[in-house]
Amino acid sequence: MSAQRNILVTSALPNANGSIHLGHLLEHIQTDIWVRFQRMRGHRCIYVCADDTHGTATMLKAEQEGITPEALIERVRAEHVQDFQGFLIAHDNYYSTHSDENQRHVEEIYRKLDTRGYIFTKSVEQLYDPERGLFLADRFVKGICPSCGADDQYGDNCEQCGATYEATELKSPRSTISGATPVLKSSEHYFFDLPQFADMLRTWTRSGTLQPEVANKLAEWLDGGLRAWDISRDAPYFGFLIPGTTDKYFYVWMDAPIGYMASFDNLCQRSNELNFDDYWAEGSDAEVHHFIGKDIINFHALFWPAVLEGSDHRKPTRIHTHGFVTVDGTKMSKSRGTFINAATYLEHLTPEYLRYYYASKLNGTVDDVDISLDDFVQRVNSDLVGKVVNIASRCAGFIQKGSDGRLGSHIHDEALWLDFRKAVEPIAAHYEKGNFARAVREIAALADRANQYIAGHAPWTLAKDPANAQLVQDICTQGLNLFRVLIGLLKPILPATAEKSEAFLNIPPLTWPHLEDFLVEHRINSFQPLLTRLERKQLDALIEASRETAAPASADGGTPDAEDTSTLIDFDTFAQVDLRVARIVAAETIDGADKLLRLQLDLGGDQCQVLAGIKPAYPDPQALVGRLTVVVANLKPRKMKFGESQGMVLAAGPGGKDLFLLSPDSGAEPGMPVQ
Ligand code: 2FM
Ligand code: ZN
Repeated sequence: MSAQRNILVTSALPNANGSIHLGHLLEHIQTDIWVRFQRMRGHRCIYVCADDTHGTATMLKAEQEGITPEALIERVRAEHVQDFQGFLIAHDNYYSTHSDENQRHVEEIYRKLDTRGYIFTKSVEQLYDPERGLFLADRFVKGICPSCGADDQYGDNCEQCGATYEATELKSPRSTISGATPVLKSSEHYFFDLPQFADMLRTWTRSGTLQPEVANKLAEWLDGGLRAWDISRDAPYFGFLIPGTTDKYFYVWMDAPIGYMASFDNLCQRSNELNFDDYWAEGSDAEVHHFIGKDIINFHALFWPAVLEGSDHRKPTRIHTHGFVTVDGTKMSKSRGTFINAATYLEHLTPEYLRYYYASKLNGTVDDVDISLDDFVQRVNSDLVGKVVNIASRCAGFIQKGSDGRLGSHIHDEALWLDFRKAVEPIAAHYEKGNFARAVREIAALADRANQYIAGHAPWTLAKDPANAQLVQDICTQGLNLFRVLIGLLKPILPATAEKSEAFLNIPPLTWPHLEDFLVEHRINSFQPLLTRLERKQLDALIEASRETAAPASADGGTPDAEDTSTLIDFDTFAQVDLRVARIVAAETIDGADKLLRLQLDLGGDQCQVLAGIKPAYPDPQALVGRLTVVVANLKPRKMKFGESQGMVLAAGPGGKDLFLLSPDSGAEPGMPVQ
């Protein structure tokens, strides 16, 4: 193993105006697994993060709630900390960008950049809300697309035709904040002169700091020519004032990455062993690793290294970029109940299921990670509980009963043990590269070998004859040693299960070097269930609960809202939807369901059952019997908590009590296609 490394690791700073959801969790779980792995290897690995607090969105949200931005960000930070702890994320510090340390570092860096000639000012003309008295970022302006004429389009691109444009080109623009018609107004902005760093960036992006596909993307941007970066925003804004001004603030994306430093600095002040400059001074031999999503590559792999270089700091060692989360192949969606917040998840499922599932999908590339719900249940149950956890439960009883809790004195199958030992280092290499999926596959293959070994010797049969007591002890000793290696290999992913296993095996916390040892003549404790099977109905209940959970708003300059509210479909896709007139022949309430009615529909011969969330609007289901309505007839049947739903009836309205079933005019017959 290599000499001890000093490693500082970060995850992107979550916005302080929304909840932690599956997308954040992908990143924090990925980072946490890598960090825990490094710690098990004996390296000093510090993991810091913070809330990204500044920007117009925070300011407006606080205003809406009638509280100060400071009160808002403090409340949200406490929620975020709790969510991450719930998922066993081992941050050493979870701080805030609205901190003294951050302000000090931002000002110092800015002054250095300014002294070196990397800052200049220029007048910029922008849309301005005269009613609210503030400049409007693109997302706060809507109007008619200059290209296709679609109304209600944002200031940077059209969701209908895909055109990109300047906010000033929108026709009939309006401020989404006050509804006022914006006016053009100029003001002085501060710019960071990024093009001066083009050569450095060309070399740095090709020096092994980025995944190859990310480096290629950056090469495109670099070849296209860099532009100076606007780092200021006019008052009113929630952020840090630019030194020497009274109404210009640092743009949130200027102080956010510096928040990595500030969080670390805050930790250094509370630690006797950590020194800020050891990690951040130019020439530092410590490592700095950032884990980010692919939507914020430009900030981390262009602006950030340039800002660091220009202010005499070291640049990151590696930027680990991941893709987006999809659920059953589509973007997370509130209406489908797949926009799942951390807190909602934790009310229904244990965090290690998600940690394991994400690990089994993360392969170190920027590919999106899909949560297939059926696969989720399958992998947790068959791979994790069925293959790994079962080894312990199968062997423990024999050692407890037959050998008074003591392991035997030697290795029963040397060749198998050697194979396990040989597998440990290649698995470490997969962890190091971020290819957790490969690590999980190889661990599962080892678990198969362990199960074959146990099944092949069938200690449960041997144990029937007391003459075999020694052999049974040897087999179960080997089984438990194989389990110990497996759980050690999985420990970065399953820290809680590993801890329970350590208690059961009566061993100190497992580290990587421990995986070479074979435990003999050692007393174990009685077996406690480690991880239980996941029932599909638990997952369904989570999805149901998430249908009602609001999606977080996206912040100024932050990650785009993952909710897909306005997907465009082409005509052919629309034509695939089979809309039919249906007659409701039976309607009934369902025990235990607050919102659902069970409808029996006649489609002109064929019948189908639909579970529809319309009970609040139609508390007396009998009133529906005999009515005509419109149904999506070719929807894939969906298994729901209360039975199968084989279609979907169409209704209008915001939901709850205010929902109105669509009905065709008289003359329509069940089974008629709707066109
Ligand atoms: O995209 C986002 O959600 C940002 N809040 C990430 C900031 S990462 C870092 F630069 F601070
Ligand atoms: Zn358009």
